[in-house]
Amino acid sequence: MEKIVSLCKRRGFVFPSSEIYGGFSSCYDYGPLGVEMKNNIKKLWWDEMTKNHENIVGLDASILMSPKVWQASGHLSAGFADVLVECKSCHKRFREDELKEKKCPECGGNLTEPRKFNLMMKTFVGPVEDEASIAYLRAETCQGIYVNFKNVLNSMRLKIPFGICQIGKAFRNEITPRDFLYRMREFEQMEMQWFCHPKSADKFFEFWLNERLKWLQSIGLKKENLRIHEVPEKERAHYARRQVDIEYKFPFGWKEIEGVHNRGDWDLSNHSKHSGEDLKYFDEKTKERYFPFIIETSIGVDRLFFALLCDAYEEIKGGRTKTTKPTKEVEILLRLDKRIAPVKVAVLPLVRNKPELVQKAKEIYQILKVHFVCQYDETGSIGRRYRRQDEIGTPFCVTVDFDTLKDETVTIRDRDTMEQERVKIEKLLDYMKEKLS
Ligand code: GAP
Repeated sequence: MEKIVSLCKRRGFVFPSSEIYGGFSSCYDYGPLGVEMKNNIKKLWWDEMTKNHENIVGLDASILMSPKVWQASGHLSAGFADVLVECKSCHKRFREDELKEKKCPECGGNLTEPRKFNLMMKTFVGPVEDEASIAYLRAETCQGIYVNFKNVLNSMRLKIPFGICQIGKAFRNEITPRDFLYRMREFEQMEMQWFCHPKSADKFFEFWLNERLKWLQSIGLKKENLRIHEVPEKERAHYARRQVDIEYKFPFGWKEIEGVHNRGDWDLSNHSKHSGEDLKYFDEKTKERYFPFIIETSIGVDRLFFALLCDAYEEIKGGRTKTTKPTKEVEILLRLDKRIAPVKVAVLPLVRNKPELVQKAKEIYQILKVHFVCQYDETGSIGRRYRRQDEIGTPFCVTVDFDTLKDETVTIRDRDTMEQERVKIEKLLDYMKEKLS
């Protein structure tokens, strides 16, 4: 894992937050390449939900909501809490479920009795910091969807079954944030809530679980690194009638990356009760009035980002090239799906001391950069520049060489096969569009 963390920092994917002040526990900033890759992930998910499936619409609700939302949802009560123990000697706190022994893992001291610790992040709204101005940063994005159920239903004239999807930040006061992007206090979720008749909930649960597994593989996660875990009743989230975790084989073990939940009528009935607004659905055909059941798919952008990096990361001892002697160096290759890769094309003049070559390469870069995220690089040997691009997962390198000046062609190197192809400059844009579509 350290190698991936180090690559992320070195190549501008992810930086520790507030690093010049010593960092800020479990918060991370996405660098220039990280933000491109994260946006690519979010776009693929959004397109999957809103274009590849029917009857799913989007929403972007606010992070701050009435505190009554969190009372109704059950997040302010014991259900949304970690069970903690404290060391009587060093006073460090630990999640009880993560301890192997009944002793402090840091100093071996005795531990207190377990206590519940709520995960909601509190803040104050307005100038006065008193009980009346307490608000919470949302702990899951989906509550914004439930409280807008009627608004969306009526404004879009939807009929059940339908879905509402949303991408946004969520916050949890995690006791033991750890493992880089795996458990953070500020993270991003991509959630889809599928509203259906209670009788069809089981069928849709299977459908969505299957869809999600297929999608995760379609964007590059290896099948053998994914598995599902049926969560037993006593370990389920407080709202879940059924819960299946999709787990990924991270370097530190199998861990959840996505949850598929049958939330039943937990959310809509509780919001109805607490708000006084009737959130039942009326079926005009059958004249039935009922609370729809909700099948939820919920995935963390950051966890998925991390899993995609782990899956794509490869080290090649002695280097990749077969035409020259193996070097002593270990070369890194990120085999990211081309849709996920942050940089799509690199433009490289073969040498930088030939002004005509450099000028041509810059012209080509200007043509491509309007269409794709591109890098221009003229520093170091061509081999070293290819390696730099392999390390960040760039699918294609365009090399401008001496022949370019004679015949207006360039060499295109494929990241995965290292095969090279000569293409006319006038055809380059169409070639890239086809390859990167
Ligand atoms: N609305 C349902 C819900 O929030 P969850 O299992 O608590 O369910 C869903 O969270 C997903 O959000 C997880 O599978 C994970 O990918 C991501 N997630 C949850 N807590 C996280 C954290 N502390 N850091 C990063 N991602 C997190």
